[in-house]
Amino acid sequence: MKAVLFDLDGVITDTAKFHFLAWRDLGSELGIEVDEAFNEELKGVSRIDSLERILAQGGVADKYSSAEKDELCVKKNAHYLELIKEMTPADILPGIIPLLEELKAAGIKMIVTSASKNAPGILDLLQVRAYFNGIVDAATVKAGKPAPDIFLAGAQLAGADPADCVGVEDAASGVEAIKAAGIVAVAVGDEQVLALADRVLSSTADLSLAVLQEAWENSKK
Ligand code: G6P
Ligand code: MG
Repeated sequence: MKAVLFDLDGVITDTAKFHFLAWRDLGSELGIEVDEAFNEELKGVSRIDSLERILAQGGVADKYSSAEKDELCVKKNAHYLELIKEMTPADILPGIIPLLEELKAAGIKMIVTSASKNAPGILDLLQVRAYFNGIVDAATVKAGKPAPDIFLAGAQLAGADPADCVGVEDAASGVEAIKAAGIVAVAVGDEQVLALADRVLSSTADLSLAVLQEAWENSKK
C-alpha cells in the first residue's frame, strides 16, 4: 500500500449534518421536503448533482434554468459556510489523527479525494491540511462520484498505481467510485449501505494503518 485516498465529509469530520440543514432549508423554500433518509442519498454527491436530485424528488426537475440552479447552489453554500465556520480541530472524528500520524510515520502518501469544493477550507479549520500530500480539486473532476474520476486523479496525485492505493469512504456513491477505479475500499458506516466495500468498519475509531494494510493485502490474494 503506497497511498491512502481520503474522503472528507463523514470520514475526517462530520459535515453531513450541516449539508443536511442547508439542503433542508433550501428545499423548504422550494416546497420540497428533504428528510434524513433522502439526505443519505446525497452523501458524496456534488453540490449541483445534489440540487438536481432534490428538484427531481420534488417533481420540478425542469422548472429552473441553469443560471437559477447555480444561484440556488450559491445560496445553499452560503448557508452551509455559515454553519461550518465555527468548526475546530475538536470536530475531527475519533481515530483520524492517530491514523494520519501512523501513515505519516510509515511514509504512506495521503490525498484528499472529496467532492467538496470547500475541502481546503475545512482542512484549514480542522488544522490537518499539512498531513496531506495533495487535495484533488473537485472543480477539475469531470464526472462526480459514483464515477471513478476523483479516485483515479487521487492515485495520480499520489504518484501511485490505483492497485497500490486504499480509499476510505462513508458514502455508497463513494465506495462505488473507489471500486470503479480498481482501488481497495474501506468504508465507515452501515454494512448494508456500504456492501460494495472490501471492509466495513462501524466507526472511524476502528481505522488504523494495520486495518488498511490488511484490506489491501487481502485484495492481492
Ligand atoms: C461531499 C458531501 C456532499 C456534498 C459534496 C459537495 O461529498 O458528502 O454532501 O454535496 O461534498 O460539497 P460542497 O462543499 O462542494 O458543496
Ligand atoms: Mg463522505
